[in-house]
Amino acid sequence: MEFDDIFLKTVDSTQEYAKKNAAKFNNSKITCISAETQTKGKGRFNREWLSPENDNLNITFYFQLKSKCLHLVSIAHVLALSLTKVLRDNNLDPKIKWPNDVMLNNKKLAGMLCEIQTKNELADVFLGIGINVNANEEFLNKIDQKATSLKVETKKDWDKKEFLKNLKEAFYNNLKLFNEKGFEPFHEKFENLLLYKGEKITFFDGQKEYKGILHSISSEGKLNLYMPDKEMLSFAAGDILYK
Ligand code: BTN
Repeated sequence: MEFDDIFLKTVDSTQEYAKKNAAKFNNSKITCISAETQTKGKGRFNREWLSPENDNLNITFYFQLKSKCLHLVSIAHVLALSLTKVLRDNNLDPKIKWPNDVMLNNKKLAGMLCEIQTKNELADVFLGIGINVNANEEFLNKIDQKATSLKVETKKDWDKKEFLKNLKEAFYNNLKLFNEKGFEPFHEKFENLLLYKGEKITFFDGQKEYKGILHSISSEGKLNLYMPDKEMLSFAAGDILYK
């Protein structure tokens, strides 16, 4: 699998662009759509994702996997891990806030949005990632949660092109392994980078809030929440609201 690259100046959302144009993409490759600016960037749970002009990386990877691919719902965890590799190679110390927010110093650096459309034997995967690269404090203050950028953390400008090249390489290698073996080979690494492990959290599954202890991550990538009544609940989707 190689990459086909599409560079856009401005688009509503790379995610929407990918879904509209998927039929034209080469299915034996990974299509990497990146945009300098998005006018209607989307986050998880229909939240807004802000993309200041030229400063950040706004990307959607489109590719196909077998619908029966093991642990398909955890594919975004694999992209998060690929990003942590690039960050660690740059001497940074990232953590992952389940399901796949990549954090630096307890602040959000990047988020992933995964949309999967299953058609018979194959699944279309639209895997979006937004990374705050050169965004400044003024922009970050507009975000409704604690956020940071590479520039703010390291006090220097980053080469977005080089960063994307490294991310693509890391993701390509991980995707090959995921395709063969599912999430299991990534499980330990993921759990080691997990933020709030063993701590009391408030969790939202899209409908209801739960208060419990973030116990662990299952070998498929689910979050195991240990409840006060000693029951263990397991979630494939949702969000940690606070701890
Ligand atoms: C989240 O943390 O809620 C997920 C954010 C995902 C943002 C990226 S930016 C590129 C792609 N296009 C979008 O509209 N969203 C994703």
